[in-house]
Amino acid sequence: MRAPIKLNKAYWPTPLTRLIPSTNNPLTLLDNNISPEQFSQAVSVFKFGTTLKSTRAFRFPLTVKSLSELSNNKPSVILDVGASDGITSSHVMKQLQWKKYFVTDRNIDVYCREYRGTFYFFDSLANCVLIATNKFVIYREYEDAVFPLNIIAKHFFSTMPPEDSEPQKIRLINPAIHSESSDVFVYAYDIFTAWEQEPADLVIAANILNRDYFSDAQILRAIQNLRTALKEGGRLTIIDNRENERSSIFRLEKAMLISEHDINGGTEIKSLVLSLPAA
Ligand SMILES: C[S@@+](CC[C@H](N)C(=O)[O-])C[C@H]1O[C@@H](n2cnc3c(N)ncnc32)[C@H](O)[C@@H]1O
Repeated sequence: MRAPIKLNKAYWPTPLTRLIPSTNNPLTLLDNNISPEQFSQAVSVFKFGTTLKSTRAFRFPLTVKSLSELSNNKPSVILDVGASDGITSSHVMKQLQWKKYFVTDRNIDVYCREYRGTFYFFDSLANCVLIATNKFVIYREYEDAVFPLNIIAKHFFSTMPPEDSEPQKIRLINPAIHSESSDVFVYAYDIFTAWEQEPADLVIAANILNRDYFSDAQILRAIQNLRTALKEGGRLTIIDNRENERSSIFRLEKAMLISEHDINGGTEIKSLVLSLPAA
């Protein structure tokens, strides 16, 4: 069971943070002068619904290497879904040939209000998703948490700050992305909806389509949308880093996704993807 209240590592001595559930400091996002690594660490603290925004640079090097070997060096259109702050996209950008790169995620902004030293973070629908002070970080998942953390967390989420001014909007996209090229496009895109921009030669879905986050029915719905986002002959790459790096690369042929290459045995949803009838 996840602790709904964690120590903010920025405040407490390291030996204590090794003993008690702790997390990086999300408040660094309010500072304009942080490094790309610090930015990704702060974004990784957030959880929206069932999915964490956890990410880090160079997360799936074996997959990127295989994709560069499989590609014919033709500049391609790449769609990265559930990309979090895009730090993993920036690695792919450096290793593959591309002409247009879509960095997308359902949650690309948060809105912050401060009240008496406590910072409340809201999603785009004005739901409070995280509360932080310089000492603690509090998550919404208090229902099944242990006593008294459940009561304390619930108390925080039931007392919201006054809405006497506009909240501060924070874009959860790593500043490192914007320096890559003007052909990088950032969009809020939900994989349970149709992709309405240009079709892609390569779709990357890293650490988003797995059974910890979604049911099989949801995964199939998302795959159908991602398949429609591909050009004929394009590739869908699914990556899972929960233990070691595992991935499954599929190619679209005559409206069917066929298996092209696996890394470390492929992902747990490979057979589910292959079970999808032709579009
Ligand atoms: C664990 S992170 C993976 C980040 C990055 N791809 C990586 O491998 O490091 C999962 C991301 O999926 C996003 N996400 C969750 N549900 C989504 C949905 N329905 N559509 C698009 N993105 C979603 C979350 O906001 C989060 O940023």
